[in-house]
Amino acid sequence: MFTLAEIAHDPLVLTRRLARIDGSDVVFRPLTRADTDRLAGFLVGLSPESRRLSTFDGYDLATAQDLCDAIARYDKLRLMLEEVLSGRIVGLLECSLGLNPDDIARYRAAGIRLTATDCRFGPTLADDYQGRGIGTQVFPLVADAARCFGKKRIILWGGVLADNPRAIRYYRKNGFQTVGSFTGTDGVRSLDMILDLDLLPGP
Ligand SMILES: CC(C)(COP(=O)(O)OP(=O)(O)OC[C@H]1O[C@@H](n2cnc3c(N)ncnc32)[C@H](O)[C@@H]1OP(=O)(O)O)[C@@H](O)C(=O)NCCC(=O)NCCS
Repeated sequence: MFTLAEIAHDPLVLTRRLARIDGSDVVFRPLTRADTDRLAGFLVGLSPESRRLSTFDGYDLATAQDLCDAIARYDKLRLMLEEVLSGRIVGLLECSLGLNPDDIARYRAAGIRLTATDCRFGPTLADDYQGRGIGTQVFPLVADAARCFGKKRIILWGGVLADNPRAIRYYRKNGFQTVGSFTGTDGVRSLDMILDLDLLPGP
C-alpha cells in the first residue's frame, strides 16, 4: 500500500504511458508541484459546458496553485493526463481517499455502508479529448491506483449530473452501478454510482 507522501516523493510509481491508435500518446501520472502553469492552462481552456459538468472550485491560475499546494497535504490524489509530444495537460482525474459526511448519509439511505476502504472519483478531460475513448482506456490505471491505497470500492465525487448522459454511459461501461439520486441545493438532480473493484479484472 502507498501513502500520498510516498507518491509525492516518487510520482513515477504511478506513471504509465498510454499508447493511442492515432499516435497521440498520453502519459498518466500524479500531479506534481511543477505543474501549476500547465494545470492552469488546462483549467482556463475548459469550455462553459465542461465547467458546468465538472466540480472544480475555479478555473484559473489561483485554483491550479491551490491544487498543487494541496499535494500530499490532505486526502486527495490528483492524476493527470499529459500529451507526450507537447507536454500539454489534457485531463485531471481526481480521487479523494476520504469520504464526505453527505455522501456517507446518502449511501446509508440507499442501504450501503461506506467505510475507509471506499474512495471518491471525478474525471475531467480537455474538451478536444472527450468522447474519444481515453477516459475508458485510462480507467484501469485509476482502479489500480485506488487499489494501491487499499481501496475496494469507488463512488462518484459529488455524483454525476442526471443530464450528463456521456458521463453516465462512461461510468456504466466501466462497471459503476447507480444506487440512487439526489437533488442539490441548486435544484439540480444527480445520480450516485458505485463500483466494486473486486468485480473488475485485476492489474
Ligand atoms: C466523462 C468523461 C471523463 C468520459 O471520458 P471519455 O473519454 O469522454 O469517455 P469515453 O469516450 O471512454 O466513453 C464515453 C461513452 O459515452 C458515449 N456517449 C457520448 N456522448 C453520449 C451521449 N450524449 N449520450 C450517451 N452516451 C454518449 C460514447 O459513445 C461512449 O460510449 P461507447 O464507448 O459505448 O460508445 C469525459 O467525457 C469528460 O471529461 N467530460 C466532461 C466532464 C465530465 O462530465 N466529468 C464527469 C463529471 S461526473
